[in-house]
Formats: sequence, structure tokens, C-alpha cells
Amino acid sequence: MKQTTFGTTDIKIGQIAYGCWRFAGSSLEEADDKIRTALDYGMTLIDTADIYGFGEASGFGGAEERLGEVLSMDKALRDKMVLATKGGIIPPRPYNSSYDYLMEALNNSLSRLRTDYIDLYQIHRPDLIVPFAEQARALTDMVQSGKVRHVGVSNFTVAQTRALQAHLDVPLMSLQPEFSALEQSPMTDGILDYASETRAVVLAWSPLASGRLATGEAGDYADKSRFKRIMETIDRLAADHDASRSQIALAFTMKHQANIVPIIGTQNINRIVESAAATDINLSARDFYDLVEAYRGVGMP
Ligand SMILES: NC(=O)c1ccc[n+]([C@@H]2O[C@H](COP(=O)([O-])OP(=O)(O)OC[C@H]3O[C@@H](n4cnc5c(N)ncnc54)[C@H](OP(=O)(O)O)[C@@H]3O)[C@@H](O)[C@H]2O)c1
Repeated sequence: MKQTTFGTTDIKIGQIAYGCWRFAGSSLEEADDKIRTALDYGMTLIDTADIYGFGEASGFGGAEERLGEVLSMDKALRDKMVLATKGGIIPPRPYNSSYDYLMEALNNSLSRLRTDYIDLYQIHRPDLIVPFAEQARALTDMVQSGKVRHVGVSNFTVAQTRALQAHLDVPLMSLQPEFSALEQSPMTDGILDYASETRAVVLAWSPLASGRLATGEAGDYADKSRFKRIMETIDRLAADHDASRSQIALAFTMKHQANIVPIIGTQNINRIVESAAATDINLSARDFYDLVEAYRGVGMP
């Protein structure tokens, strides 16, 4: 697996990360297998969130809890990963990034994950009520306490990210937008370019559009003709590169000039292994622009 730098740090991470959104229902043995496979194949950044598991049998905190059990079985595992989690979503409010709430959420995540530090703590979604200065105070105190090494944001616009950064002395090390061949707005809304400006790493969520780009089933995706154009292009590129659809979709996200680390979410061991090989696929510039044009429905100007 190719490696990249984690923001402005000298920490190296795999160019593909592993995500735990769909992980909460796993048995302990299955969960252990998935995390070990991801690490063995170079996916060293493991992304989770306190909300993962909400609405399922395990409930709020379920995915962190399960990952914490995996970590507690083998003390050597913790140092092999860059552990990223998130807080700030709390249904039905739905968001809370107040100082008191985030500090409490961090302590709860630490205890569920059975660790005394988080490598990357991210505000999960922008809270439109709490002032950025207060959110920044929470992130600053998290870092100063030693419980958190680095901080980042998820689903923030460029303007929101800048506003938060203006109140912070530490850099926002990561941005986490949804980004895939089927969700290309980060290429034009400025978020990928802002990451390049600040050298933040971009953790791209749902890089297979929640599996749609692998199955070819649009599901509730509204623009069926766009979906058809993208799938036809992915299928052609998969044949050209002797690769799977998912490998082409992942390679697309990594071709952009920003430092993009797609977070895969499969719960299938063979698919974790297959995804890792996507860093070896060398899409040409023409291949990349074919997928951009398929998304836009018009040729590049
Ligand atoms: N910040 C945010 O707001 C946010 C939101 C959503 C997600 N995330 C992060 O992004 C991560 C990934 O999200 P995601 O799970 O939606 O990612 P994804 O990789 O786009 O989709 C994974 C889904 O695709 C399915 N799939 C079907 N065929 C597949 C194939 N051939 N290869 C691989 N997957 C296939 C998987 O099913 P199988 O398990 O059966 O393979 C799984 O349900 C999450 O775990 C989380 O860390 C963040």
C-alpha cells in the first residue's frame, strides 16, 4: 500500500483508510479480523465515531465499544494505528459542539475505545448554534490535555473551516467531506483546494457512494442518467485496467491533486484486501477526466 503524510505532521499513513460506520454489529472475532486485515494491508488510519451504532442493536457508541474490545485483546494493536474518532452528533438535537458536551464526549470515547489518547478528534458536523470560538476552545483543551494528538473537521464548508481555524492555535489536520465519482462537489466547492492550501489531509467518506459504484445499483440516487454515465465509464476503465469497479472508484478519488485518503467501509474481508490494491492502479489523466465529464454530463471546457 502506498503511503502519504498525515497533514503537516511527519506521521505516515496508508493512502486508503478503514472506516467503522458499519462495524457495530460485528462479533468480536469478526471485528478483530477486519481491523487486523485493514492494518496488515496498510490501512493504518482507522476512522470511527461515537454515533456509529446509533439506531442499531448496539446503540450510540456501539462501534467504538467494539473497536475498544478489539484493542483491549492485544495491547500492541493500538500503536499500529492512527486512531480517528468524531463527536458532536447527538440525536434528536441533532448537533452539539459546545465546550462541555465535546469534552464529555471525548472522555466517553476514550473509555469506550479503552485508550488514553485519540490521534485525531474530529467535529462530526457543523453546529450552527455554538460559536466557533467555543468549539475551538474545546479542541484546544483536548490537545493541551494530551488526550488528543490532532484535531479535524467533517462535513464543514470552506468558510466554516476557516472560521473555526481562525480561533485555533493548532492546525486542523484533516477535513472529511463525502467524495466519490458520484459526489464530486468537493472538487468545485473549494474544500479540496482549501486542504491543499493548508496541507490538511482529506479523508474522503463513502468513496464507493455507499457501495453503489461497486454494485451498479443506483438505489435512491436521484439522477439516474448521471449514475448510468458514471457506471458505463467505470466499467470501461475496469476492463482497460483489469481492475474491479471498486478499485477504479477508489483510484479516481486518489488521482486528484489534493492529499486524498478514501475511507472504505466494507465489512467483507476479501473486499478489504481487494481495495488495498487500488493504490497500484494508475489512471491516466484522460481516465480521470472521463469520470469528471460523466459526472457533469458535458465535456471539459
Ligand atoms: N463523516 C461522515 O459524516 C461520514 C459519513 C459516512 C461515512 N463516513 C466514514 O466513511 C467510511 C466509509 O463509508 P461507507 O461505508 O459508506 O463507504 P463505501 O466504501 O462507499 O461503501 C461501503 C459499502 O459498500 C458495500 N459494497 C458492496 N459491494 C462492494 C464491493 N465490491 N467492494 C466494497 N464495498 C462494497 C459494502 O458492503 P459489504 O460490507 O457487504 O462489502 C458497504 O456496505 C465509514 O465507515 C466512516 O468511517 C463518514
